[in-house]
Amino acid sequence: MSKIVINTAREQGKINKYIYGQFAEHLGRCIYEGIYVEDSDIPNKNGMRTDVVNALRELEIPVLRWPGGCFADDYHWRDGIGDKDARPYMINTNWGGVVENNHFGTHEFFELCEQLGTEAYICGNVGSGTVQEMRDWVEYMTFDGNSPLANERRENGREKPWKLKFFGVGNENWGCGGNMRAEYYADEYKRYATFIRNYGEEPIYKIAGGPNADDSHWMETLMRNVSHMTEGVSLHCYTHEVNWQNKGKAAQFDKDGWYSLMADTQRMEKVISLHESIMDRYDPENKVGLIVDEWGNWFEVEQGTNPGFLYQQNTMRDAISAMLILHIFHNHCKRVKMANIAQMVNVLQAMILTEGEKMVLTPTYYLFKMMKGHMDGEKIDVDYTPETININGAEIPKISVSASKKNGSVTVSMCNVSLDSDENIELDLRDASFVSAEAQVLTSNNMTDCNTFDAPDNVKIKDLEVSLENGKLSLTLPKMSAAVITLK
Ligand code: AHR
Repeated sequence: MSKIVINTAREQGKINKYIYGQFAEHLGRCIYEGIYVEDSDIPNKNGMRTDVVNALRELEIPVLRWPGGCFADDYHWRDGIGDKDARPYMINTNWGGVVENNHFGTHEFFELCEQLGTEAYICGNVGSGTVQEMRDWVEYMTFDGNSPLANERRENGREKPWKLKFFGVGNENWGCGGNMRAEYYADEYKRYATFIRNYGEEPIYKIAGGPNADDSHWMETLMRNVSHMTEGVSLHCYTHEVNWQNKGKAAQFDKDGWYSLMADTQRMEKVISLHESIMDRYDPENKVGLIVDEWGNWFEVEQGTNPGFLYQQNTMRDAISAMLILHIFHNHCKRVKMANIAQMVNVLQAMILTEGEKMVLTPTYYLFKMMKGHMDGEKIDVDYTPETININGAEIPKISVSASKKNGSVTVSMCNVSLDSDENIELDLRDASFVSAEAQVLTSNNMTDCNTFDAPDNVKIKDLEVSLENGKLSLTLPKMSAAVITLK
């Protein structure tokens, strides 16, 4: 039995809704086929797949990052505006060497954001673009007055400027974004960021291209040199079954593979703590956000698929590991102000997989759907001492719990990592009187269970029985499950 005390009066900071952000790159079948279908029998509105958009709207996605990823530093926005037939083709050299026809460009991205009801986060090109190209793009998108660029936008069908909330100055500039040294990038950042002008009502939230995982030198250099002129620094940290060389397979794994992935999720805790300690030194007032704009499970591609398309299945293991990582973001919510899981459709740890006109919702989709109540909630204290599972010397907690409050209700999320035993839970709810509790659970009979095009409903949300008496809530959390309880 696990006894967990939840103290609603002990507030620990806002869980920014942007932690539940998404990422869509011109990679494999994410944009084309997965989201955007032209001249197709698949029902769509202005090219956006109706089934995919409707499913994603249920997630209330707060922010969407685009166009990359590595693609961003190879992308020239002018190629993606105006008459589609006249748009130049290019080779997507990062991802499979396929032809990119540029039919999904700036106007189409904002159309998608509008259909999803989400904020836009655009990543600009530092690696192979110019300062002028970046400054012009911002003016094209956001200037309401009379300028050649704003008028060109109008000629292309958009009278009013769009709201551009977030702008990234390059992507992985230590690697695919130009193989730069930290010192060189810091200087480049200052030059590019100077010309990102604020034309709209709200200043653009600029995000500097941050470190790869635990690269503390990169973070130290950026914080020392650019923290006075950025609102955020990005961080990329992916999870694998063992490591980058031994990524493992998404849907074929054994018990060791299950636990070893769970153990690797704990690297996120170490990496965030490391960067937080650096950021705290340069920015004690906590003005600069740590933006984890790429995270998620990265496995080997599915057999027979294009290795450059990063297509992988998605199982219960993905859902539970996503909850572990989202809880880590909650625990660091004062510094982690945004996170974007990679990626939204058909790539890496996706919400949705498609095949022709078919679509399946993954266990990770359902996990995000269950967790919505935490968005913009106030994190509250959760006190418990979890039993641990020892994996090759690493201790992983058997259960993980997080709680937040918002508009008079409390959301509690919890998962049971164990493959062998259910866990009886007693929640002691201090300083609050609740009259109702509703709970949902995501679980399955086998650890490798996933949703396929032939069996799309293998894994889905079910109701979970709970009992609420005298301020104490009891439930049984099944093995390999994730649950969310809403108390009112
Ligand atoms: O998400 C896939 C790729 O991973 C991105 O393009 C890149 O930024 C990262 O290396």
